[in-house]
Amino acid sequence: MKITDTSDLWWKSAVIYCLDVETYMDGNDDGIGDFAGLARRIDYLADLGITCLWLMPFYPSPDRDDGYDISDFYGIDSRLGNHGDFVEVIRTAEDRGMRVIVDLVVNHTSDKHPWFVSARRSRTSPYRDFYVWRDEPPKGEQPTVFPGEESSVWEFDERTEQYFQHVFYRHQPDLNVANPQVRDEIVKTIGFWLALGVSGFRLDAVPFFIEPPKGVDIGDPHELLRDLKRFLQRRVGDAALLGEVNLPFREQVQFFGGERGGELDLQFDFMSMQALYLSLARSDPAPLIASLTARPTVPPEAAWANFVRNHDELTLDKLSDAEREEVFEAFAPDEAQRIYGRGITRRLPPMLAGDPRRIRMVYSLLFALPGTPVLFYGEEIGMGENSEIPGRHAVRTPMQWTDGKNGGFSRAAPSRLVAPIPGDGYAPEHVNVQQQRNDGDSLLQFIRGLVSRYRTSPEIGWGSLRILEHDGAGVLAHEVSSDVGRMIAVHNFTEVPVRLKLEVGAVEEGTALLDLHGPDRLSMDARGRVDLELVPYGFRWLRVSPAGDTRIG
Ligand code: NOJ
Ligand code: CA
Repeated sequence: MKITDTSDLWWKSAVIYCLDVETYMDGNDDGIGDFAGLARRIDYLADLGITCLWLMPFYPSPDRDDGYDISDFYGIDSRLGNHGDFVEVIRTAEDRGMRVIVDLVVNHTSDKHPWFVSARRSRTSPYRDFYVWRDEPPKGEQPTVFPGEESSVWEFDERTEQYFQHVFYRHQPDLNVANPQVRDEIVKTIGFWLALGVSGFRLDAVPFFIEPPKGVDIGDPHELLRDLKRFLQRRVGDAALLGEVNLPFREQVQFFGGERGGELDLQFDFMSMQALYLSLARSDPAPLIASLTARPTVPPEAAWANFVRNHDELTLDKLSDAEREEVFEAFAPDEAQRIYGRGITRRLPPMLAGDPRRIRMVYSLLFALPGTPVLFYGEEIGMGENSEIPGRHAVRTPMQWTDGKNGGFSRAAPSRLVAPIPGDGYAPEHVNVQQQRNDGDSLLQFIRGLVSRYRTSPEIGWGSLRILEHDGAGVLAHEVSSDVGRMIAVHNFTEVPVRLKLEVGAVEEGTALLDLHGPDRLSMDARGRVDLELVPYGFRWLRVSPAGDTRIG
C-alpha cells in the first residue's frame, strides 16, 4: 500500500501522547488538574510535535482505580470541568493540528454506576443481566489481574445471594457483552464522544471485554470488535481504535482482524516492550531482535503502537521467570519497586540511573522502530517516579512544568495536590519543562528533534522491517522501508564504543547514507557495506538517499 494514497490513515504516522487530565495542569488552583489547565498546555504539546493526545479516563468515578471505574459513560468528572471545557480542549487541539482520543473502558463499570446499583438491588432488576451473575463461581476460575489486592474474580453479593464477575477490582463488575442491550449502550457511548469531536478511542482490556461469560455462546467474539469498528467508520470515517491487548503475538494479531483487518487499528506492542527491558538489562539487543522478528506483519491499514512506559506497572509477564528476575535485579532491586509478581513501578530514567546516553538511546529506538510511538506524559523531560507512593500510582505524579512551587502544576497548598510530587533527584527543581525548553542540550529538545525526524520520515510508521547484518557486538541495526524511502538505524546497547561494518545491501549507483542527526554523508563500498563507529550507547539514523534525492527532512 502506498503512503500517498492513504493519508487518512493518520494513526500510521502519529505521535501519541498519553496524559491524565487530573495530573497535567491545574487551571483553578484547587490542586487537581483540569480541562482548563490542559487547554493552556496545548501549545506546548503542539510545539513538541505531538499529533494525537490520548486522554486517560476523565469520567465521573468513585476514583478507586484512577478513573478506570466509571459511574457515568457520558459525563465529565466535575473536578476536571464540564462538557464545555472538554470541547474547548478538543477545539484548541484541532486548531493546532492535533487529534484527541479518549479511553473507552467498557469491560466493566464502577459498582456505583446506576446500572449496577439497580442490578444488585434485585434479581428482577431490568439491569440485572447487564452484569454476569452466578449461583456459584464456575470451576477453574481465571486468576485475578491484581494478585495481592484481589483473591478472586467473583464476589458474593449478600442482598441477592449470587456472585458477580469482576476481572479487575471487586468494585469493577464486568459488563455482560452477551446482552444486546449492553452492546447498544456501548455503541451509543462511542457515538456520543465522536459527536463531541474525538478521533477515536483507546480501548481498555480488550481480550476481557470481548470474552462472553463462561458457557454463553455469542458466536465469534471478534464480531463485536468488527461491529465497533464499522460503527466508528460510519460515524467518523477516519476514527481509530487503539487497543490494549497484552497477549502473545499469535493471539494478539487476531485483534487486528487477522489478515483481513477490520478490528483494532493500533495495538500496543507489549511483547517488544518487555523484550526491550531484557535487552537493556543484558546490554544485548538479541531479545529485542527476536521479538521484532517474531512480530507479525499487520494488515496494511493497521499499526503497532510502540512504547517504553505506560501508566500501569511496567509489566514483564511475558518473560520467563528467569528473564523477569534478571530485569528485576537490574532495574528494580528493591522489592518495594515491584508489584503483582510481574511488574515494576518505576519510570525509565531512575531505572537507568539517570544515564543520559542510555536514556536517549532508548528514546531514539522508540522513534526509529516501525510503528507509532506513544509517550506517557513527563517522559519527554525524564521525570522520575515518586517512590513514596506505593504501587502503580508512583508514576502518576503531577507534570513538572517549572522549578517553582508544586512544579508549576498548581498554586494550591502542597497538601491539596491530587498526588505528591517526587522530592528526590527527580524533583521539579531538577526536572522541569521550563528549564529544558531553554537548554538546547536537554532531553526535551532531544525528544522534540526525534518527533520531528519521525514525522518527516513516514517510512518509519509505514515501513516494513529488516534486521541488518553487521559485525559489531551489542548493536541493533535495522532498516525500515516503504514507497517513500528507506531508513537505517543503529543502536549501541553497550557501554563501550563499537566499530562495525554494516551490510546495507544493493543500492542504486550514487546512493549515500544521510545522517539525520548530523552533517555526515556516508558512502558504501561496491558490495553495499559501510563502516560505522558508535560511542557508548550511541545511535545513528541514516537515510538511504539515492542520487538526486530531494527530501529535506
Ligand atoms: C487497564 C488500565 O490500563 C488499568 O490502569 C486499569 O486498572 C485496568 N485496565 C482496568 O480498567
Ligand atoms: Ca483544578
